Amino acid sequence: IVESAAVTAVDRETGASRFVRACLRQPVDRTPVWFLRQAGRYMPEYMAVRKHHSLLEICRTPEIAAEVTITAAERLDVDAAIIFADLLLPFTPMGLDFEFVAGEGPVVHTPVRTLEHVKTLRTDRVEELQYVARAIEKVATHFSAPRADGDTLGIIGFCGAPWTLAGYMIEGGKQGGGDRNYIETKKMMYSDGPAWSLLMEKIVTVLVAYAQQQVEAGADVIQIFDSWVGKLSVRDYRQYCLGWTTELVQRIKALGVPVIYFGVETASLLPAMSETGADVIGLDWRTPLESGWKAVGAGCAVQGNLDPIALFAQEDVLKQQVSEILEAAAGRPGHIFNLGHGIVPGTPVENVIHVVELVRELSAR
Ligand code: CP3
Repeated sequence: IVESAAVTAVDRETGASRFVRACLRQPVDRTPVWFLRQAGRYMPEYMAVRKHHSLLEICRTPEIAAEVTITAAERLDVDAAIIFADLLLPFTPMGLDFEFVAGEGPVVHTPVRTLEHVKTLRTDRVEELQYVARAIEKVATHFSAPRADGDTLGIIGFCGAPWTLAGYMIEGGKQGGGDRNYIETKKMMYSDGPAWSLLMEKIVTVLVAYAQQQVEAGADVIQIFDSWVGKLSVRDYRQYCLGWTTELVQRIKALGVPVIYFGVETASLLPAMSETGADVIGLDWRTPLESGWKAVGAGCAVQGNLDPIALFAQEDVLKQQVSEILEAAAGRPGHIFNLGHGIVPGTPVENVIHVVELVRELSAR
């Protein structure tokens, strides 16, 4: 009791939320929790908004994006709110048209395949993405007052990683099914060094400016999504992507916020991913938390990593899995509870809420 009172006093003193403190591996009174895709199609409140607006309309209208973000965070009573946006938004100011096709995911109409095309991509129009920053301001204002327990909610901004964004740009879409081999992307990577380097450089330039807008608007932390990094061998990740990702991580950290770096199917990639210097590595659900943390090293915090499909299980199974993850992380600071990938449509909302309650109850110290 004495210890948790001290932690609360420190929280108040520094103004840092337990979420931000956990990102920095500082002691917290209990494990912070939030969910990948916490505002999404499983949630009736989101679907009600979605009935009247397209995904891009929601993203590009700060009032609606903020409302969707806030509604999800409050309904679940989580410790962090991730701004409602999408990985592909920066494509528009770069000069790449795309759309979300129902059931297929994002489609880029003219995929990038040549150096000539890469040369035409713009990096000087990132200001067009300020609608995301305006939405973050609204969310930050809404959550500026401490909650009942004295803690403030963390605000998460985000962007894609160079590899994952290049994959969408070059393949053109439909890779969401996970059955893609990334042939076009790897062809450019292996055989057209000048095109690959220029593309990586342009993506990093745009993402740093975009992250800066988000931080200036009030994002406490930036999460970098490398959703398809698991399509790479460790050697190719190291040779073609690690340097660019490290540059992105370091330049965002220089803005003064912790960085969470998340990927999927990363068991073999974790040591290399932690070399980026990210403060937190997001673990996917396939990797046991304990071995995942060992692989990224003690100098990193970790986020994760319940299987999102476990949210369909009955109470005793859910409780068992939540407590196993908390136990594997116990005794050292730097764990943020989350899923090991996004909540899927059809997930019972009450089970998501129950996980928040379980984390709160089982991790209190
Ligand atoms: O609370 C939240 O996390 C919602 C905000 C959010 C969205 N996209 C809105 C969205 C976030 C953090 C993203 C990131 C994103 N976008 C990722 C990385 C996360 C991951 O899952 O690995 C990726 C790969 C994308 C690209 C993307 N956007 C795909 C592949 C799809 C289709 C997938 C599907 O389930 O249909 C989207 C569409 C999308 N972006 C939806 C949402 C809520 C669902 C579609 C909709 O509402 O119409």
